[in-house]
Amino acid sequence: MKEQPRRNADTDKKKTDIDLTVSDTDADDFFDLPPYEPHVSSPHKVSPTKAPPAAKANRPAWSRHLLTLGVACIVTAAVVWIAHAAATNVPPVDDSEQPPAQSGENIDQQQPPASENDPDSSMQTPPPRPAYTYACDVSAFMSAIEYAPEKDDILLLNKTHSKGAGYAPSSLSELAPSYTLYGKEVLLESTAAAALEAMLLCMRADGITDTYATSGYRSYTYQSQLFALYVEREMNSDPTLSRERATEIVETYSSRPGQSEHQSGLCVDLMTTTMGNLDESFENTAAFPWLQENAGQFGFILRYPKGMENITGYTYEPWHYRFVGRAAALEISAAGITLEEYLGQMQ
Ligand code: DAL
Ligand code: ZN
Repeated sequence: MKEQPRRNADTDKKKTDIDLTVSDTDADDFFDLPPYEPHVSSPHKVSPTKAPPAAKANRPAWSRHLLTLGVACIVTAAVVWIAHAAATNVPPVDDSEQPPAQSGENIDQQQPPASENDPDSSMQTPPPRPAYTYACDVSAFMSAIEYAPEKDDILLLNKTHSKGAGYAPSSLSELAPSYTLYGKEVLLESTAAAALEAMLLCMRADGITDTYATSGYRSYTYQSQLFALYVEREMNSDPTLSRERATEIVETYSSRPGQSEHQSGLCVDLMTTTMGNLDESFENTAAFPWLQENAGQFGFILRYPKGMENITGYTYEPWHYRFVGRAAALEISAAGITLEEYLGQMQ
């Protein structure tokens, strides 16, 4: 090994004390390599980190300029990279401030919120519902309003899901006469009855005072009589109709016994004192838009919407509301779907 020339301690110290700026010479020192030694034999040999001044002094000028140019290029590249990172919102790498994720820590919490660019995000995390303020004091009705059955416990009655003559709700309640048309007797399943009274109370608090329940629970027998009556009516209004054809017509708007939601006591027909018949004119009452906006908050849905006849099996009934519980009702109305679609039970 070649002997390393001694450094001049005085010269070195003076340089350190006086000149702290980056000069050609400093850059030169920084990039100095140990002298080339092709025959190193000891694996423990410590190589010198500085070239001797004499070696520098002997280096050609073009070599020093080349090194200086190299430093300038690297500094320029670093400045360009940082500027680019800032412009593209990519924070410069700084691992000194960030604690490493601990085992078991939910790193999802560090992810940005789901955005509309993620098509699955809206499915996974439904947006929070806006707060709703009831127009009346519903504190006495909260257990009915917040009734939240499992999907499997939501009863479906239609042309392919029927009940027998012996089926009736386990608990029926009579609505207060002040909520029924001309004070007639109307029964509903007890939870549905409480939720409906809350809804009519709040409707009145909002200034809609002419809307009443006209039909709730109907027995299998009563539905049979009603259906038969409608068939007769059709045949009377058009004597050319066969009974079979008249029955087909009635089936578009009335359930056969065993297939009516009214047998469950979970639905209600509403009408106003100004309506002569239970018909689509209910759409033009003040109650209808109010119900469209608020019925879900009481657990009710419009059961036979317009344009959904091929799914529900019945023509549009703006007056018929079905109690399913608030959570399901809000989900169904927000999605604009039928109960059949919500329950995945298409006919
Ligand atoms: N009008 C409805 C479909 C019923 O009769 O149950
Ligand atoms: Zn009805």
